[in-house]
Amino acid sequence: IENNFIDKKLTGKKVIVTAGGTKENIDPVRYIGNRSSGKMGLAMAEVARDLGADITLITTVETDLTDIEIIKVQTAAEMMKKLQDRFDTIDVLVMAAAVADFKPINVADQKIKKNDNEDIFTIKLTKNPDILKTVASTKTHQFVVGFAAETQNLLANAEKKLASKNADVILANNVSENGAGFNVDTNKITLLQKDHEPDSWPLMSKVDVAKKFWGFYINL
Ligand code: CTP
Ligand code: CA
Repeated sequence: IENNFIDKKLTGKKVIVTAGGTKENIDPVRYIGNRSSGKMGLAMAEVARDLGADITLITTVETDLTDIEIIKVQTAAEMMKKLQDRFDTIDVLVMAAAVADFKPINVADQKIKKNDNEDIFTIKLTKNPDILKTVASTKTHQFVVGFAAETQNLLANAEKKLASKNADVILANNVSENGAGFNVDTNKITLLQKDHEPDSWPLMSKVDVAKKFWGFYINL
């Protein structure tokens, strides 16, 4: 329900949210992807919009969200380019995309044929740039939020990401836990912030995670 009396507390804030898993081409008909649904990023964008922010969503997944600038991309390289073109002008980056860590070294021009004599086919991968780390290393005034998808040693791994990626906040989730993270409507987040104790949130819907996150940001 739209409540016109709710303060639009993000009015005047320019926000970029990235969402979805990147798809890294193998040939004209195939790619390497991951199970990210993009729902966490879409929720972050939707709630920020409702709070009055000026939102650009750089996304690999389709969305019918309105009153948001939507930039559709497929690969990590495209996502990074679109983000770098705009990073100077924004106040907040929420890097919710599940960026592929690796991409095929070569993209075949033609559909790759299987060979009758070979049962094993090898694809050589090369590292993608770390978009968050690359962009955040150039930050001046921007508030930068990353996620950390972990299946073990959640706090230790996420603390490392907070420091190494020059992020202001990391929202860590244990993606092997039921209901947390990949391809479900709920998430269980631990918020990490430099010089603060980790804050563990209960399991909640991704929209409620987004509301809680933006509430945290507004109260900083
Ligand atoms: N990220 C990114 N570019 C990449 C990989 C990750 O910008 N090439 C961002 C993600 O969007 C996320 C954060 O970095 O906000 C953490 O991603 P995650 O996959 O958890 O960590 P990695 O640094 O990729 O390390 P690993 O997968 O080995 O745990
Ligand atoms: Ca990764």
